[in-house]
Amino acid sequence: MQSEEIRSRFLEFFKKRGHTIIPSASLVPENDSSVLFTTAGMHPLVPYILGEKHPGGKRVANVQKCVRTQDIDEVGDNTHDTFFEMLGNWSFGDYFKKEAIGFSYEFLTSKSEGLGLDPKRIYVTCFEGDENAPKDTESAEIWESIGIPKDRIYFLPAKNNWWQAGENGPCGPDTEVFYDLTKKGLGKMTKEEYLEADSKQEVVEIGNDVFMGYEKKNGVVVGKLKQQNVDFGGGFERLCMVSQGVTNVFATDLFQPIMAKINEFTTLADEKAKRIVADHIRTAVFMIGDGVIPSNTDAGYVLRRLLRRAVRFADKLEMKHDSLSWITETVIEKYGHIYKNLAEKKDEIKKEIDAEEQKFRKTLASGLKLFEKISEKNISGEEAFDLFSSHGFPLEVTLELAKEKGKTVDVAGFNKRFKEHQELSRKGAEQKFKGGLAGHSDKELQYHTATHLLNAALHAILGEHVMQKGSNITPDRLRFDFVHTTKMTPEEIKKVEDFVNEKITEKLLVSFEEMPIEKARELKAIGVFGDKYGELVKVYSIGSEKTGIVSMELCGGPHVTNTSELKGTFKIQKEEAVSAGVRRIKAVLE
Ligand code: ALA
Repeated sequence: MQSEEIRSRFLEFFKKRGHTIIPSASLVPENDSSVLFTTAGMHPLVPYILGEKHPGGKRVANVQKCVRTQDIDEVGDNTHDTFFEMLGNWSFGDYFKKEAIGFSYEFLTSKSEGLGLDPKRIYVTCFEGDENAPKDTESAEIWESIGIPKDRIYFLPAKNNWWQAGENGPCGPDTEVFYDLTKKGLGKMTKEEYLEADSKQEVVEIGNDVFMGYEKKNGVVVGKLKQQNVDFGGGFERLCMVSQGVTNVFATDLFQPIMAKINEFTTLADEKAKRIVADHIRTAVFMIGDGVIPSNTDAGYVLRRLLRRAVRFADKLEMKHDSLSWITETVIEKYGHIYKNLAEKKDEIKKEIDAEEQKFRKTLASGLKLFEKISEKNISGEEAFDLFSSHGFPLEVTLELAKEKGKTVDVAGFNKRFKEHQELSRKGAEQKFKGGLAGHSDKELQYHTATHLLNAALHAILGEHVMQKGSNITPDRLRFDFVHTTKMTPEEIKKVEDFVNEKITEKLLVSFEEMPIEKARELKAIGVFGDKYGELVKVYSIGSEKTGIVSMELCGGPHVTNTSELKGTFKIQKEEAVSAGVRRIKAVLE
């Protein structure tokens, strides 16, 4: 059964049983700043679990896009992905254990309406009870009544059979369904044998009914919710795997075209590397589709790490440099008809992935050189951070390189430095915000950005000798002093004006990044590299990898966020000498 059919059978099955089908929410949580990504179907539905009325009623079903990166090291085994789809059916204070378990069993085993899985390969776990909730004998009895023999039902502690999405929020005991992947069939197993089979991935979890009736605060169960809910989650990739009779998710029809594409670009046999490339590119496609772009903070940083790790593994496979872009295309071909945003944003997604690959490649070689040098010994936190901040090496990449050389990395040291860096960036952003409110009128912001454009124009038209000597901005004009020996000709003035006006109409992004001064130099950012900037500097860019960067300049900000915010036409009113070899321009936006 192909993945498309599994998705539609699931939704059809629950529609027939009174559920309203709702679309997947975005991977980027909309009203929840506690998580970077939607990690489970529950996230977008918390208000309804807590008792708010859902417009679709008390029963809904969906296929939710999820990202979980905590298992990133396990990607490459048979069952872990960083992106997955979760089939979910929900009861918001409506049906409970009996119906939920009945639905799950019927969907998994029914040949006509469900997946037609073999009941003899199913094992079930239930909550053994603790101070928060009693032993879930009720669920076990329901399973038994529908045909799962007692000796395939195991009671396990909260570690296994209590589900929550975090330290706070709805939670509850669950009952999990496992499927036997072995050829010969495992048959009867004691609890110990079952746990052993689980650890060897001979059985794998394919579904989970959470009986969400409790609430946690700061990691502690504080009481019961006002209604009893059901959250069934079935990992889609794994369900495809068992339905298709294969033993790893990369062999399902979801991954198969992606793996085939990768094999077009490599003759090497490193299966794990191929799986990592396939997984990471697929995840990146979905993230960018939902609006994430690579950066050094938060969700953007997770995306950056995935992409850069994919580049490393693509290199290991000796794939040619633009192959990630082709793999991206294959991912979109596979998913674009289900997730239309991917098809619509195909060019943008490809460009982002391309740009990030190129950006990483710019510093990869120098980073590898530095790594060679420092990896004579174990890598200190400072060195790992340097690899990150100056060469764009995410920690994973450094860890993997170190492992290959039999060296260790001071992860705690890295994390400490990284945290400091994150705080600095955040402060930068806050300052920018505050600055924007305090005394910087809209017009001054516009002139400030126009000054950067003017500086770039002068460099482009008069030459690289143009160096800023000073500038002054009022709400009515900008003034800019720079090194140049001759009076500008009317043609040069016209060219400079045209350059700036063109960039205004091109609606270019204005953004900044905080980086060590050495890196700013390497990037050839212009500006005053004086001591006063200290070690970390802010570099403002106008334009993006996509549109081309027209200006990169050391600057504290603030600026507009897009050149389209510059209102009016840029006009040079005066060009004159202020001292020997220094000229002054006064210009307006009118
Ligand atoms: N929310 C449950 C899970 O993610 C179903 O496993």
